[in-house]
Amino acid sequence: MLAQRPPMGWNTWNTFGKDINEELVMQTADAMVEKGYLAAGYEYLVIDDCWSLPERDADGNIVPDPEKFPHGMKYVADYVHSKGLKFGMYSCAGTRTCAGYPSSYAHEYRDARMFAEIGIDFLKYDFCYFPQHGDCKHAYITMSMALKSTGREILFSACNWGKEEPWNWMRSVGAHMYRSTGDINDTFVSYKDILDSQIDKFAMSAPGCFNDIDMLICGMYGKGFVSFNNGGCNDEEYKSHFALWCLFGAPLMIGGDIRNMNDLTRELLQNKELIAIDQDEECRPPFEVHSNHWFDADTRKFVKHLSGNEYVLAIFNTCPAERKLELSFDAIGVTTESGCGFELRDIFSGEEMTRFDNLYVDVPPHGVRMFRAKLISK
Ligand code: GAL
Repeated sequence: MLAQRPPMGWNTWNTFGKDINEELVMQTADAMVEKGYLAAGYEYLVIDDCWSLPERDADGNIVPDPEKFPHGMKYVADYVHSKGLKFGMYSCAGTRTCAGYPSSYAHEYRDARMFAEIGIDFLKYDFCYFPQHGDCKHAYITMSMALKSTGREILFSACNWGKEEPWNWMRSVGAHMYRSTGDINDTFVSYKDILDSQIDKFAMSAPGCFNDIDMLICGMYGKGFVSFNNGGCNDEEYKSHFALWCLFGAPLMIGGDIRNMNDLTRELLQNKELIAIDQDEECRPPFEVHSNHWFDADTRKFVKHLSGNEYVLAIFNTCPAERKLELSFDAIGVTTESGCGFELRDIFSGEEMTRFDNLYVDVPPHGVRMFRAKLISK
């Protein structure tokens, strides 16, 4: 079964946009292995938009741009596979890709055969230039069937930015993940808004088909295609971005330049505890604690049930100032008369504590405090 857990990998788009080529892809494949990303679980290397010539050839086939990919795509796919990685590519349900290249509307079976011959394991399928009277669901089920018809196992990564509430039907057309929002950019507001829009949509994100809240921006520091050359996020913000994606069990597709990540970013992206939370076998979305108290403005609080009777408690401070924040145990179902509390371990500092009387901690500006927890009785 594909996508038993949220898919993990790397995608060219966030940093490189149209500036992609064989060398970049092969160097990144090397770096994914040598720098420990594959061992940490990042197995898909995906080429996004802008890989082809601007027009199909006389036979109707999409042709890889020979300047960018002088040895063709099979050569690249074979190299990626030789490293023990899986290889992904990109097309679009409309008549053109978002960057204006030929795409698969009314060519689904032809293109699926070409992708299978190249040897892809993953197809990202976008939604630009979709005909005005086209049927979105039909477009996605058609490419899903076209991929199936090739007989090759190809993870189908649908990307229609949340159009027609994909959380209600993408699973049924055979997609293995579906983008539920517009594009992320390298700012705190961007990832916070994306998360806010999906907090109550994760019930349908489960083995076989996951809600994809877009690729990671960790370590971009304002450089690249979805940045504004303004320095990007700070380290605390990258930390909460990654931790929250893991808390929600979202697909983890790295968008930074894997070849040149600093140690902090590499350690964050390879944090075993966070990845284990993302990949937990029960794949449960976190439960959000709602509170109308004025003090809780600009705060998100969650408990996530993990397998093995463990939990994650998380407090996210969306305010640009440090605050002392409280997570009420009663609000997450551990009432005062229960006599129960939690043994807690801070996922970032390793600090351990036992609490029977709520969690009350300092949370950095735009930061998240996250604890692995065991339920105990007095
Ligand atoms: C957008 C998509 C991005 C990227 C881009 C390529 O529609 O959401 O993730 O694939 O197209 O042009």
